[in-house]
Amino acid sequence: MLNIDQLRQETPGCQTYIHLNNAGGALPTRSTVEAVKEYLDLEASLGCYEAAEAKKQELEATYRSIATMINAHPDEIALQTNATCAWHSIFYALPFQAGERILIGRSEYISNYLSIVSHARQHNLRVHIIDDDAHGVIDLHQLKHHLDDDVALVALAHIPTNNGLINPAPEVGALVKNYRAFYLLDACQSVGQLPIDVRQLHCDFLITTGRKYLRAPRGTGFLYIRRPLISQIHPARIDLGGLQWYSTNDYQLLNSARRFETFETNKALQIGLKMAVDQYCALKSTSIVQRIQTLAASLRTQLSQINDIQVCDRGKEQCGIVTFCHLNISSEHMVHFLTQHKVHTSLTIDGLTGINLDSRHAPNKVRASLHIYNTEKEIEQLCHHITHMRL
Ligand SMILES: Cc1ncc(COP(=O)(O)O)c(C=O)c1O
Repeated sequence: MLNIDQLRQETPGCQTYIHLNNAGGALPTRSTVEAVKEYLDLEASLGCYEAAEAKKQELEATYRSIATMINAHPDEIALQTNATCAWHSIFYALPFQAGERILIGRSEYISNYLSIVSHARQHNLRVHIIDDDAHGVIDLHQLKHHLDDDVALVALAHIPTNNGLINPAPEVGALVKNYRAFYLLDACQSVGQLPIDVRQLHCDFLITTGRKYLRAPRGTGFLYIRRPLISQIHPARIDLGGLQWYSTNDYQLLNSARRFETFETNKALQIGLKMAVDQYCALKSTSIVQRIQTLAASLRTQLSQINDIQVCDRGKEQCGIVTFCHLNISSEHMVHFLTQHKVHTSLTIDGLTGINLDSRHAPNKVRASLHIYNTEKEIEQLCHHITHMRL
């Protein structure tokens, strides 16, 4: 059982606002913020290289913490600055051959999608979007039908940025592993929210950001690469941080995911990432997902009882992201109105965020995303404001 009062006390941001923009960036704990500040103080007093030397073991332990959280090996983890950067690091390194196909789900994040389209144009690859099933998640029958030996990559967003659905990521992995295609999972919204086990997901690569459900500082993220693939994949760009340099023409890439890292990084943020991951691991992941899903289900029920509000989430299994719109009031106005009442939500624009790559004219939606420290009382307050909102 989670101790909600304690979680809220440890989260300074809970005290003033109702923060329902966790899918944008969640609130860090006091300990995470303190860890970052302390590290910056150390850098200021010692010098940054000297501070890194003094904190070498703790910085090194970040890889072990992340590996524990997702059931990986520490050498399968590369630290990155955000999810897109992690995704680009691996995508642009993949050895595509002209004529090969890339299969993606409809909920692919738009930056990823645009990278795929532009890369496909330049390298003569074919992109196929697998349709959704009746529940709005990737259609596994369609996927099975399209998988073949000319498929080089299957890319999927575990949870899209703009809908409460959860894609069947392990089932996709179980299908893809029978083929030569790589499986790249965007777990940007699921790490910190759902229990993540890379072995059960059967993914070759997984990427995420720190600042969302993981509650780590902005400017953090990581890339997971399945061990046997590391030595086969050459980064698109190499950096001193990812190799050993022996002589003028002689260097060797590291035989770990760290070949995708850069030498220069923000160590203070990495210390914050470690703290956030350790705090996540100290709680039971099943309690976390239960709490988030219970709050989100309650919000969906209460919203659907308000006149003219339409809840837009799809999926057989749903997560902490709740999307909705009003039949007569614009979502922009709702988000603004709620901010004025100290409730943080965000605006989601389908045409820009990807769930339905063709739905450029769909109405914008309000996204309220719940985390463990949110409460039923906060949900009631949100619904109260929406009920009394005027044009
Ligand atoms: C599903 C998904 N993938 C990728 C991203 C990009 O993450 P970042 O902003 O850390 O690059 C987001 C951000 O909202 C997202 O929701």
